[in-house]
Amino acid sequence: TWTTGNIVEEQVAAIRAQVGDKRAICGLSGGVDSAVAAALVQKAIGSQLTCVYVDHGLMRKGETEQVEKDFVAATGVQLKVVDAQERFLNALAGVSDPETKRKIIGREFIRVFEQAQLEILQEEGPAVAFLVQGTLYPDVVESGGGTGTANIKSHHNVGGLPDDIEFELVEPLRQLFKDEVRMVGQELGLPDEIVQRQPFPGPGLGIRIVGEVTKERLDLLREADAIARHELTAAGLDREIWQCPVVLLADVRSVGVQGDGRTYGHPIVLRPVSSEDAMTADWTRMPYEVLARISTRITNEVPEVNRVVLDCTSKPPGTIEWE
Ligand code: XMP
Repeated sequence: TWTTGNIVEEQVAAIRAQVGDKRAICGLSGGVDSAVAAALVQKAIGSQLTCVYVDHGLMRKGETEQVEKDFVAATGVQLKVVDAQERFLNALAGVSDPETKRKIIGREFIRVFEQAQLEILQEEGPAVAFLVQGTLYPDVVESGGGTGTANIKSHHNVGGLPDDIEFELVEPLRQLFKDEVRMVGQELGLPDEIVQRQPFPGPGLGIRIVGEVTKERLDLLREADAIARHELTAAGLDREIWQCPVVLLADVRSVGVQGDGRTYGHPIVLRPVSSEDAMTADWTRMPYEVLARISTRITNEVPEVNRVVLDCTSKPPGTIEWE
């Protein structure tokens, strides 16, 4: 019979058989899938696993700490954190176009991650042969099956390593759907904040600032987003709402009156949506009182923001994200 306990036992045995006494690397994104995959592999091979977390500075408030502290506390995993915030900010300077932002963030991410892999390889030698990925069953079906290998190419001139290293993939979630992954994560004792996390885009807050991404704007948006998330959770809306992007219209200014005088600040957009699969979505008819609390708190607590607006567009025609 099918239980999460069985899945864990089965996968732990399979991972041990596959990896043997070699070593593995796993990238953590802060998302559910990579966290559960890493926790499973950690349970199977313990200190033979090293996790890598790239801090690109585009995460929401508290998310990096969740990985650094709570995930490590729950699993005992060996974690290498790469602080790449400056690098991402520099690469994004002057860029407003959404697809260009995505390309830059994706490219920099791969470079930083590969650099970290090479450093681990240099420290630990040729025993590192496996790369853990949180591939789910729907991803397998979409890409047409086939388990694989991953290449890293050393175009960064880190000396002393072969030009082209091939990792074998470990994909312990290949037979599972998202809800099953969450159950396995729970079984493994991961914190709810990680296991129940709503979808969040890989490029993070970088695509929730309409306009150029700067440190100041990221800090503003992080505050506004934290307030919205806190109030939505307090109101018990986390299940009803699939996700609620909070967007900073950094290139828009409007006049307001705050405190002693007139201000000329930026709007924050709330985009609460209900959905089954993110392919289509409806805007969530959430209680006015909750909207009022979020609006009051954001305009009181976040400098430079003098307006909060609600996005009441379905998908289609609107996408869930603004970029
Ligand atoms: P849209 O905006 O296309 O979003 O309606 C659908 C779902 O995908 C997420 N999303 C992304 N996820 N990288 C990601 O990993 C991206 O570039 C990206 N863009 C959108 C979005 O949050 C929603 O869940």
